[in-house]
Amino acid sequence: MNLVSTPEVDPTLDLVEEINRLRREKNAVILAHYYQAAEIQDIADFVGDSLDLSRKAAETDADVIVFCGVKFMAEVAKILSPNKTVVLPDLKAGCSLEDSCPPDEFRKFIDANPDHMVLSYINCSAAIKSMTDIIVTSSNAEHIVSSLPEDQKIIFAPDRHLGGYLSRKLGRDMLLWQGTCIVHELFSEKELIKLKAKHPDAPVAAHPECPDQIVQHADHVGSTSSILDFSIKSDADTIIVATEPGIIHQMEKAAPHKTFIGAPGADGNCNCNTCPYMALNTMQKLYTCLRDLGPEIDLDEETRVLAEKPLRRMLELSPTKGPSKDVSAIGE
Ligand code: 13P
Ligand code: SF4
Repeated sequence: MNLVSTPEVDPTLDLVEEINRLRREKNAVILAHYYQAAEIQDIADFVGDSLDLSRKAAETDADVIVFCGVKFMAEVAKILSPNKTVVLPDLKAGCSLEDSCPPDEFRKFIDANPDHMVLSYINCSAAIKSMTDIIVTSSNAEHIVSSLPEDQKIIFAPDRHLGGYLSRKLGRDMLLWQGTCIVHELFSEKELIKLKAKHPDAPVAAHPECPDQIVQHADHVGSTSSILDFSIKSDADTIIVATEPGIIHQMEKAAPHKTFIGAPGADGNCNCNTCPYMALNTMQKLYTCLRDLGPEIDLDEETRVLAEKPLRRMLELSPTKGPSKDVSAIGE
């Protein structure tokens, strides 16, 4: 595979114009996650959370899916739409949760607990998905776990914080794989308490990838789409946002009169909470990726077929529609 990190691009090119021309020429759809840079979100055909983006990738009639997110998300697009060309601006855009769950070790863990159903958070490799019974995202996990019989034993991987949150909220005992997101782990409870004292009327919206000591201070816990929805609908004019700060772009567009403050890290500001993997995608790489139709996602067919089953199961079991909307309709 061809890894693209620093593409040579003519600095005089109008990248927006070129990307628009290429996407028409190649019948491509640009899907972007809320953690992408603002200019990438603005040029995308659709911006959403992991579940919304999976649905879009499964439904699209475009020939090419340009996935502006991280690699596991682009892999989901390829698993669900195997006949399409799926490209990612930078193949090095990984995820610490994916890295925390090596397939060989996970296989041993499953084999050691044979009477358990395996639920995996979508933030994992195709190999982990191929060993899973049902995939979940942060917007459907609660619904899916609740739909399982109460005596069903569950392995949950790889995010111990999302798993712990579900286990506490739903009163379910689950065997948790001990993976974490390096971005959400950086929020500081001490600094959050100080920030809340400065803004006593500001609710806190947190992603369930945050450790429990952050989630405990939250007025709303949910996926990126649900945090966005909460922030837009809340009566408060200031909201503290405990997730990757890329999402604040959509909040500011939808509710320009409100103030959104990123939850702080240990140094008292939130710059450390930018996802370094998401940040690898740039407008230059988006342009070269469309121009060259690469780097392309290429999966071993046996793994793809096995990984498709738990993803389809997730789509069947998910509530019919998440709160997010097409880019043009965000905030309506
Ligand atoms: P969402 O499904 O909420 O968008 O989360 C994806 C993710 O990677 C959060 O870190
Ligand atoms: Fe992975 Fe965390 Fe980045 Fe999300 S924010 S892609 S979980 S490293």
